[in-house]
Amino acid sequence: MTRVSLGQSVAALSGVRAEESMKTTLSVIKADVGSIGGHIQPSRRLLERVAEVVDSAGKALIQDRYISYTGDDIAILMTHTRGASDEKVHKLAWDAFVAGTAIAKEEGLYGAGQDLLKDSFSGNVHGLGPAVAEMEIEERPNEPFLFFAADKTDPGAYNLPLYLGFADPMYCAGLILSPKMFKGFRFRIMDVNYTHGDKTIDLNAPEELYDIAALLRDNQRFVVESIWSRETGAQAAAVSTTRLHNIAGKYTGKDDPVMLVRVQGEFPATGEVLAPFEKCHLVAGFMRGSHTGPLTPSRLYTDISYFDGPPVVTGAAFCVHNGILTEPADVFANPFWDSVRAKAAEKSVYIREQGFSGAAMLGMDELEYGGIVEKLTVLEKRFKVKETKETKETKDAKKKK
Ligand code: F6R
Ligand code: MG
Ligand code: MG
Repeated sequence: MTRVSLGQSVAALSGVRAEESMKTTLSVIKADVGSIGGHIQPSRRLLERVAEVVDSAGKALIQDRYISYTGDDIAILMTHTRGASDEKVHKLAWDAFVAGTAIAKEEGLYGAGQDLLKDSFSGNVHGLGPAVAEMEIEERPNEPFLFFAADKTDPGAYNLPLYLGFADPMYCAGLILSPKMFKGFRFRIMDVNYTHGDKTIDLNAPEELYDIAALLRDNQRFVVESIWSRETGAQAAAVSTTRLHNIAGKYTGKDDPVMLVRVQGEFPATGEVLAPFEKCHLVAGFMRGSHTGPLTPSRLYTDISYFDGPPVVTGAAFCVHNGILTEPADVFANPFWDSVRAKAAEKSVYIREQGFSGAAMLGMDELEYGGIVEKLTVLEKRFKVKETKETKETKDAKKKK
């Protein structure tokens, strides 16, 4: 598919901004509502419909938007002054995805409406299926930030890059060179297995580095939800933490995460945030959301291919001023990343060499398909225990009781 011009940011939406001193909210809401040829990328008409709804219904609500896709997921990045979890802004995105779903059904796209798990909208999109990352910020005179979107993986995929980019001077030189960063950062980490509400813990880097690492090693359970500057108290990062698995109680697709990261000044430099992605570390996802594969830093508008993967992450850099976005800069387009992608391809093949065996496939708790549980239940009945003197004695003892 050709690249859509829809993705270009427009300053055409009027929004309401009474004073320049108002805070700006960055909201990104993403969903998979249908895809061409399997789970690989949305259709052009679907994207156009989503953009149409955002632009018409959002006229008096938001100031600017950038609509893009990464694999089969469509992300709507919006700027406004209404704060996080705003009902109207969330409903705007929900309505756009519902309208997109109608097109997906009309075109016979695969997985039409897949991430819209509830029939109707109530309050905000949390718990309804779409993933959300939001930040209400006091704009600096120049306000650069990065927007990341990943497909065929889950929110814990960002744990390692965030730890290295914000807490390890081997990656973030600013921690030793920039006085504005000497105090370090506060990590808010969520236990995503807890489903009765948001269960989080705040831990400070550098004092509590080992505690942070002890949690972040478990990407499936503990996920960085946000990061804050300890120098200014300002929010540096916001990550979507939705687990569709926990909402639907069954497989409905991976929780392909989005993330916003402010950069420069009291925050890490853009390149410090990007550097850890060179690792292409192994994450959960890939085929059927049930395997392990390298997180591959990819160009904007990258589709999905090999073994329904590899897991991909894209990054768009922006500056925002009085709520208006610049055009995006593609942070993984530089030729440097071509060799990184070649490494990721090698790592993909390397782990795929062992198919279903051991580390290549996720553990039973994380397998996204229930079919294997049914299979094991059937097989369990066919197991036979060989009778020995000991088993006979145990059986007899049980009978006597
Ligand atoms: C993973 C993903 C795909 C599908 C696979 C099978 O997130 O979207 O790997 O799991 O293509 O899809 P179904 O079960 O819909 O045929
Ligand atoms: Mg997806
Ligand atoms: Mg999908």
